[in-house]
Amino acid sequence: MLKAAVIGVGSMGRNHARVYREMEGVELVGIGDQNAQTAAKVGASFVVPYYTDYLKLIDECKPDLVSLAVPTSLHFKIGCELIERGVHVLIEKPIASTVEEAEKLIELARQKGVTLAVGHIERFNPAVMELRRRVREGMAGRIYKIHTQRLSPYPPRIQDAGVVLDLASHDIDLMRYLMERPVLRLYAETLQTIHSGREDMFNGIMRFQGGAIGILDVNWITPTKIRRLTITGARGMFTCDLLSQELFFYENENAPSQWDTLSILRGVSEGNVLGIRIARHEPLAAELADFVGAVERGISPTVTGYDGLETLRIALDFMRSGEVSEIINEEKVAL
Ligand SMILES: NC(=O)c1ccc[n+]([C@@H]2O[C@H](COP(=O)([O-])OP(=O)(O)OC[C@H]3O[C@@H](n4cnc5c(N)ncnc54)[C@H](O)[C@@H]3O)[C@@H](O)[C@H]2O)c1
Repeated sequence: MLKAAVIGVGSMGRNHARVYREMEGVELVGIGDQNAQTAAKVGASFVVPYYTDYLKLIDECKPDLVSLAVPTSLHFKIGCELIERGVHVLIEKPIASTVEEAEKLIELARQKGVTLAVGHIERFNPAVMELRRRVREGMAGRIYKIHTQRLSPYPPRIQDAGVVLDLASHDIDLMRYLMERPVLRLYAETLQTIHSGREDMFNGIMRFQGGAIGILDVNWITPTKIRRLTITGARGMFTCDLLSQELFFYENENAPSQWDTLSILRGVSEGNVLGIRIARHEPLAAELADFVGAVERGISPTVTGYDGLETLRIALDFMRSGEVSEIINEEKVAL
C-alpha cells in the first residue's frame, strides 16, 4: 500500500484526493490546504486528516507520494521541500514559473532519487491516446498541420499565471507529444482584455522540424468552453474533441498510396468519414495511476520533469514573443 497525500485542495487538488481515495493499492493519508475552511471541508468529505501546514502533514502522515496542486507560483518552493524530504511528487502543470526553477526541481529529484511527474493531463485523455497511436501508425500520412483550440470563460481565481502558462501549456505539451519533433521557431500575438496583469488571449504559431506547422488558439474571453484539436496530413484529417473524448478521421480520397512511405500530397478530395470508437475513462485517474505505477516500479512517468521543463520553455518563449512582437528561434531544440 502506497501512502498518498494532496497539497492544495482547491478546484483541481480535490479531484486528486478523490481519485487517490478510490484507487486500489493506495491509501489517501491526508490533505493539506492553507485555507482552513477548504482543508476542513475536503478532509471531512474524504474522511482523512487535514492540515493547514503542509510540513506538519508530511511529518505526521509520512506519505510516499504527493500531488501538489497549489497555485503555480508556489510549485517550486513546496516542490523542493517535498523532494528534499524524499517524497515522490506529481506537480500540477505548469511545472514551475521559470526555466531555472524547473531545472532545479529536476536536478533535486535526480539527486534525491524521487519520481517527479508533471500534471499534463491531456496525454491521458483516451481520445488523445488513440489519436497518438493512429498518428504513429501513419493513418494520416505525413503530418502538415496540428491545430488546437482551448477557449474558456474568464476564471477570476487564477491571478499568478496568464492564459499561456495556465491553459496553452496543455496544448504545447500535446503538440510535443503528438508531433514527436523539436520546435524550430515560434511566434505569438497576445492580448490583455480582462485580466489585471497578464495576457488572457493568445494566438501562437510554431514550426516543427520536418516542416509541420502548429497553431494554437487559446483564450479566457469565450463564453463557452471549447477544447478541440485537428491534425491534417496527406491521407486525411483527424478531429478530436477533448471534452467529449470523440475522435473522427476524414479520409482524403486522393490519398497517396499506403506503400508510399513519404506519403506526399498529390491531391485532396472528400472521402469517407470514420468515427473512431474510444474506450472512455477519466484522464486524471489514468494520470495518477501512471504516477503511482512509476513510483512502484521505479520507472519514468509518462510526463517527466523534463517534459514539464520543455513545455514551460516553449510557453515562456511564446509569452516573450507576444511581448516583443518577434519570432523566437528555439536554441535548445529538444523533444
Ligand atoms: N491539469 C489540469 O487540468 C489543471 C486544471 C486546473 C488547475 N490546474 C493546476 O493546478 C494548480 C492549482 O489550480 P486550481 O485551479 O486548483 O487553483 P485553486 O486556487 O482552486 O486551488 C489552489 C489551492 O491551493 C491552496 N494553497 C495556496 N497556497 C497554499 C499553501 N502555501 N499551502 C497549502 N495550500 C495552499 C489554496 O488555498 C487553494 O485551495 C495550478 O498549478 C493549476 O495550473 C491543473
